[in-house]
Amino acid sequence: MRRKALSLIVTGLLMVLPAASQVFETIPLPPAQKTGGMPVMEAFQLRKSQRSFSAKEITPQQLSNVLWAAYGVNRPEGLRTVPAAKEWYEYDIYVMKTDGWYLYEPKSHSLQKMGNEDLRAYGGTQDFVKVAPVILVFVADFDRMTGTTDEIRVFYSAVDVGYISQNVYLCCASEGLATIVLGQVDKAKAHEVLKLRPNQRVILSQPVAYPGQ
Ligand SMILES: Cc1cc2nc3c(=O)[nH]c(=O)nc-3n(C[C@H](O)[C@H](O)[C@H](O)COP(=O)(O)O)c2cc1C
Repeated sequence: MRRKALSLIVTGLLMVLPAASQVFETIPLPPAQKTGGMPVMEAFQLRKSQRSFSAKEITPQQLSNVLWAAYGVNRPEGLRTVPAAKEWYEYDIYVMKTDGWYLYEPKSHSLQKMGNEDLRAYGGTQDFVKVAPVILVFVADFDRMTGTTDEIRVFYSAVDVGYISQNVYLCCASEGLATIVLGQVDKAKAHEVLKLRPNQRVILSQPVAYPGQ
């Protein structure tokens, strides 16, 4: 009986523990470059989806800038570069790289290494995707969207990801990088390899790379 109670407690704990419990190490990103860059009107002019990537690694500074633009903290009270319904901030950005996979931690602007595997093959189903040295995967955590219905969770998470993705597009335009937002992702497989909890949903992915030939 006591063993059963213990096993129930352990199972319950495993269900509520955040994905961050699997962290191997925390890797600080270089501070994002928050001044300069391309004028925003020029970035609008250059924003586009690209489907040809170079395998050349992007720099840590570029990755830092892209992640900060996507979901970074831009005010002392912890608010972000994107608006967020109800301030739920339900998104986690997973970063698939050649040397492993990571979780972006906006508060400390760092990457938490979650595993050493190269998961880029799961970042999208189209052939051009896995050439990119970095693939961002936008994952909504429905557990953070409290006091509402699943219909609202689906709606607001779909809205919120658009801001994140567009910021990535504009930052890539400014950095001379290529990107494309992708719905064509095997979401069940990505959910499995990222070891997500049931209430975390893979919504979209977005490779980031130097342009291909
Ligand atoms: C929600 C969403 C999902 C998309 N999914 C894919 C995709 O899976 N594969 C793809 O090649 N393009 C995808 N796209 C990119 C669109 O095809 C692209 O934005 C459109 O052709 C317009 O081109 P532009 O972004 O260069 O303006 C997606 C765009 C959006 C907004």
